[in-house]
Amino acid sequence: MKSLQIETASLSYPVFIGGGIRKNADELLSSLDLPMTKLLLITDEEVDKRYGEELLNLLESKWPVKKVAVPSGEQAKSIDMFMKLQTEAIEFHLDRSSCILALGGGVVGDLAGFVASTFMRGIDYVQFPTTLLAHDSAVGGKVAINHPLGKNLIGAFHQPKAVVYDTECLGTLPEKEMRSGLAEVIKHAFIHDEAFLHELLKIKSIDAITNEQLNDMVYKGISIKSAIVSQDEREAGIRAYLNFGHTLGHAVEAEYGYGKITHGDAVALGMQFALFVSEKVLNCPLDRRQITSWLKQLGYPGEVKLDTSTEALISRMLNDKKTRGGIIQFVLLDRIGSVRLHSFTAKEIERWLNMWRLEGGE
Ligand SMILES: NC(=O)c1ccc[n+]([C@@H]2O[C@H](COP(=O)([O-])OP(=O)(O)OC[C@H]3O[C@@H](n4cnc5c(N)ncnc54)[C@H](O)[C@@H]3O)[C@@H](O)[C@H]2O)c1
Ligand SMILES: [Zn+2]
Repeated sequence: MKSLQIETASLSYPVFIGGGIRKNADELLSSLDLPMTKLLLITDEEVDKRYGEELLNLLESKWPVKKVAVPSGEQAKSIDMFMKLQTEAIEFHLDRSSCILALGGGVVGDLAGFVASTFMRGIDYVQFPTTLLAHDSAVGGKVAINHPLGKNLIGAFHQPKAVVYDTECLGTLPEKEMRSGLAEVIKHAFIHDEAFLHELLKIKSIDAITNEQLNDMVYKGISIKSAIVSQDEREAGIRAYLNFGHTLGHAVEAEYGYGKITHGDAVALGMQFALFVSEKVLNCPLDRRQITSWLKQLGYPGEVKLDTSTEALISRMLNDKKTRGGIIQFVLLDRIGSVRLHSFTAKEIERWLNMWRLEGGE
């Protein structure tokens, strides 16, 4: 098992990473020295089938625990599910010294974390991530649910007390979800670590990724995220770097309709566009064609669907939480590991997008 310590202005907490460590979850939780009068274990139905009962049985020997499984998928990040979980917490008599455990991917982490941030004005929670994407979402303390008018619009900053990342759980993850999570790993490499990107470029297919590579990806991805978040917990400055590939990515996700494309596939498209703009505006000396063909080989899309209009994407970008006064902020690279924030008008982005799309995404 490896461990990392995340240091933020508000809190410091450990991340434990290793294959099979869920079987020691009781000891790891005890080592945190939290009051834990009761535990509410929140998971989703898919994850519950595989890991829910096992974790419940283990923890029940030490604490009063109630397990609740929400339907799997993005729709669980709703105000109705939030209320249901608050009701479960009240009926189970959780108190201010109780703890919520989030066993699952980013959906469960964001939802359970938001419940923890608001129940009795905020109680402890611990993340047990089970997807590769959750190396990103489980660290950093952003928790949220969706509003019908937009994703993650209702949320809080609430850091977990610990992250227990059993990488063995990734063994049951569908390929599509693995690819989605890998996009965030690739993002972390692009913005911070050239050597790591070169390691990743050796991966020839998703199903060829070894356990050793997975452990390494999770460890390095979390290290990079934590280095950024520890300097900027509330997104006043460099935390924006984590948005690399996300300005267009979020627009594509919203325009296709949530669930029609995975977050990672959309981010992979966004990264390809950001690299195109980086080349044009900052002369970023990257072999963009090599990157594009590698991403395609891994199964990522290389271009935005033809029936999605550039105007619609621009309008989505203008509505993004990070857009201010009609100026769209883009995260660019002047080389791998060296990030530049750049502001564009909608007109400028439209021009770049049209040019990139004419190239067929290349
Ligand atoms: N808080 C943050 O900083 C942050 C960052 C990035 C993304 N997010 C959020 O994360 C969410 C996406 O997370 P995700 O991609 O993990 O999706 P997810 O939680 O929906 O998981 C994807 C699918 O995999 C299944 N699954 C999970 N673990 C499994 C396992 N080990 N074996 C088999 N199946 C498993 C789930 O049931 C689900 O169907 C989005 O809502 C996004 O907004 C948050
Ligand atoms: Zn993301």
